[in-house]
Order: sequence, then structure tokens, then C-alpha cells
Amino acid sequence: MSSAQVWKPEDYDNQISFVSAYGKGLIELLAPRSGEQILDLGCGTGDLAKEISDAGAFVVGMDYSQEMISKAQEKYPSLHFITGNGENFSLDTPVDAVFSNAALHWMTNAKDTLASVYQALKPEGRFVAEFGGKGNIAAIVNAIEEVLSSDYNIDPKASNPWYFPSIGEYTFLLEKIGFRVTLAHHFDRPTRLHGGKNGIKEWLHHFGQCFFTELTREDQHEAFEKISQLTEQSLWKDDAFWADYKRLRVVAYK
Ligand code: BEZ
Repeated sequence: MSSAQVWKPEDYDNQISFVSAYGKGLIELLAPRSGEQILDLGCGTGDLAKEISDAGAFVVGMDYSQEMISKAQEKYPSLHFITGNGENFSLDTPVDAVFSNAALHWMTNAKDTLASVYQALKPEGRFVAEFGGKGNIAAIVNAIEEVLSSDYNIDPKASNPWYFPSIGEYTFLLEKIGFRVTLAHHFDRPTRLHGGKNGIKEWLHHFGQCFFTELTREDQHEAFEKISQLTEQSLWKDDAFWADYKRLRVVAYK
């Protein structure tokens, strides 16, 4: 998990609220039951933890960002939230399920993350997750790489904070840890960005800061503009930018 990424809870709940909105479908796959104990790994400001709790489950929401956890606790005071590093955590009491939406691509040490998840589960407990899969936001990543390397002589690979595995790579890892994989699905999910013509620039502002820490404000502004222009041909449609999201969804049992 890169510490250069700064999360702003108010943005998470407004400009990028699609993150939680899309996660609702994943809760159907989780099918939480009354009385179950469930960990929401990378819970953000807690909206999905609240939905899981509404089904009668006891939820613990965990996030790396203290700002996100403070906001989640303020919004949902009756729920239990903790800060924690998804790549290396342990729970006092094992849970029936670990749920994770749009968070695992920030945890680049997937082996240690999955080992922590496995440890956190009761025998036969389930892991239900969705995150960026192979080829996710390729048009955006290619444009970032092109602008940083040719205009600023920066190696963008060194600051790339994301992990987007293929089905084969990720299910292999799950099985190696000891999981029984019952579902793995890689699919396109073009995502309409807020902000009209500023959509890519706003997206970079929310999610892509890690790449631009060495640039001055003016250079950053210029780089965002160029990246936006480079992606326009492939991502601008029907009066909006559509980010080329590709998701990986998995269900696996201990
Ligand atoms: C995603 O949800 O796929 C994603 C979000 C922000 C940065 C990278 C990927």
C-alpha cells in the first residue's frame, strides 16, 4: 500500500461515490447472514459495511487510512471500525467471511494480503472480493507512462501503486495459500467519470497522485492536461469520459 496516496473522505462520498455504488452487487454475492462475523477489508467511509450490517451480520470495517476510518465511525457510530494494513493484519477472533471491494489493487503484496485473509477466516470461511484485474484502466496508465517518461524523464513504473492480476495469476496465488476457489470472473466495466471534460484530470487528482509527487504544481497541471488529451480519443463518449475499468471478482473458501 503506497503512503503517497492521500484519501479525502468527502471526495470518496461525493465525486467518486461510484466506488461504493458498484460494490452493492458484490454484497449479493457475499449473501451475509444474520449473526455472521464479517470483515470489510478496505472499507473506505463505511457504506458497504453498513449494508452488510443491515443484513444482521456483525461487521468490522478495516482501512489503511485513518481519515477514512474517522469518517466511517462518524457516519456509522454503532459499527466497529479499525485502521489496519491489509498486507499484514491479524484479528483477535476469526470471522465467517472477509469482504473487499475496490481495495485489493492498492495492496501490491498480494501473497501477504491473502495469507492475512486466510488467517483471519474460520475454517470453511469465505473470501468475496472485487478489484482491478489485468488490463484495468490500461488507456489511462499508458497515457500516464507516455507523458511522464517522454516529457519529464520520470520512470512511471517505479511509482505505479497498483496490482492488477489476471485470473490465472490470482487464482494460482489463492490456491497456493490453501483456498478452494469457487468463482473467478474477469469482466469489463466502463465507468462514467464525474466532471465532464475534466473527468480524467479529476480522476488523476483522486487516485493518481503517487505518479506526480516529483512535479511542480504547474508541471502537474500540464501533465494532467496532456494525459486527458491522450485518452480522449478512446475514452470520451456520450459527453463523458468512461474509464476503462476491468474487474476481477473472486469467491474462495478456507
Ligand atoms: C479501480 O477501482 O479499479 C481503481 C481505482 C483507482 C485506481 C486504480 C484502480
